Formats: sequence, structure tokens, C-alpha cells
Amino acid sequence: MLKINKLCVSLEGSPILRSLSLEIHAGTTIAVVGRNGAGKTTLLRSIMGLIPASSGDMHLDEHNLIFSKAHLRPSLGIGYAPEDRVIFPTLSVQENLEFPCGIQKMTKLEIEERLEHVLDVVPQLKVMLPRSGSALSGGQGKMVALGRALMVGSSVVLLDEPFQGLAPALALQYSQALGRLRTSRPDLSVLITESNSALLSDIPNQILTIERGSFVDTTH
Ligand SMILES: Nc1ncnc2c1ncn2[C@@H]1O[C@H](COP(=O)(O)OP(=O)(O)O)[C@@H](O)[C@H]1O
Ligand SMILES: [Mg+2]
Repeated sequence: MLKINKLCVSLEGSPILRSLSLEIHAGTTIAVVGRNGAGKTTLLRSIMGLIPASSGDMHLDEHNLIFSKAHLRPSLGIGYAPEDRVIFPTLSVQENLEFPCGIQKMTKLEIEERLEHVLDVVPQLKVMLPRSGSALSGGQGKMVALGRALMVGSSVVLLDEPFQGLAPALALQYSQALGRLRTSRPDLSVLITESNSALLSDIPNQILTIERGSFVDTTH
């Protein structure tokens, strides 16, 4: 379970996340929805340790993430698909997918097994494997970023606005991949952000609304 308690984050002296608390139990998908600038990317980047928390707690099961350096968080099984994809143009798609596993010093066999699993979940990646990272459309880049997050994300995956800008056919493929993921990895915790909740259809178990760095109660 990923448990965040009263997380506060400031950027350049301005408070951006204000006392956010969130629990994602194993096997659940939570969506954080809010307009541009609400703090969605900042939340995911602080879970990855790319932005320091100014106060609050973050635990993944028994691991205190606040004390865990950014480069160690993928080794705890946290995968991240950033909003801007960050696909290396000089590497093939397969190399892009395997890249974070190499950093984690996984064995060749383990990487092969993970790739096989990811290709089961996102079969569209199969034909793309030999292609250059520079030859991908924005939507294909999002599929690769999902696959790459799944290569290391054995406990948690964080998907930043995955549906933003995806053509309808690709958006359907992406949500079908998330459906297969639910079946094949029933214990995985998934955190998805979106600015438009209509794009999420019935994927999340729960939707939280974020405004100016705080969760707001939209039930009344
Ligand atoms: N590097 C930065 N320095 C200062 N402020 C930032 C930085 N990055 C983002 N912000 C501000 O933090 C707020 C939240 O941004 P962000 O987390 O990117 O929102 P979202 O992903 O919901 O669009 C915005 O007001 C944005 O201007
Ligand atoms: Mg964002």
C-alpha cells in the first residue's frame, strides 16, 4: 500500500502541495483529477523523490519513502510514466523499455520475463520494439512510457495524464491495456492523473479532485 500523510511540497518558496493525504491499497486504481497547475505532476514527482517534501510522510508498505533517495525508488517497485514521456531518441523502443531495469541491475532473465509480461499487457509494443525512440508519434510514446513504467513498477505505477492528447483509437488501446493489467497484476496500485475526468471512463476505483495543491471534497 502507498500511504501519503499530510504531504507538503514547496517550489521556489511557494507552497504547491498543501497537506495531501492519500492511500492506495494494493489492487486499486486512484485517479487524481484537477486543472492545469493544480499540482498533479508535482505530486507524482515528489512520490518519485524528484522533488523534496517540505513536510509529511510517505510510505510504500514498510518503506519510508521520505528517507529513500530518488534513484532507489524504482528498486522498491515504483514505475513512473511522466507526462512528457521522456523517450530516449537514440535508443530503440526495446532499449527504452529495458533501460530502467538495467539501472536496477536486474538479470537478463528477469528483464526478459518482465518484457514478456509487458508485451502481454501492451501488445502494440511488440512491432515497435526495434524502432528508434525518435520515430514514435506522441501517442506511441505514451504507450512506450506505460510499458517502461510497468517494467519496474511491480508495486505501484504512476501515470501522469496518460490520455491527454491521445487519439481515440490509442486511448482505447491504452485503457484496454490498463484493463489487462488489472487482471494480470491484481495487487498493483495505480495512480493516474488527468485534467479531464471524462477521459478516465470506468478505470479508477476512486477519483480525487485536486485544487491548488489540496484535495477537495466533491461529494456535496
Ligand atoms: N519548477 C517549478 N518551480 C516553481 N513552480 C513550479 C515548478 N513546476 C511547477 N510549478 C508550479 O507548481 C504548480 C503545480 O504544477 P504542476 O504540478 O505541474 O500541476 P499540474 O500537473 O496539475 O498541471 C503550478 O502553479 C506551477 O506553476
Ligand atoms: Mg502536470
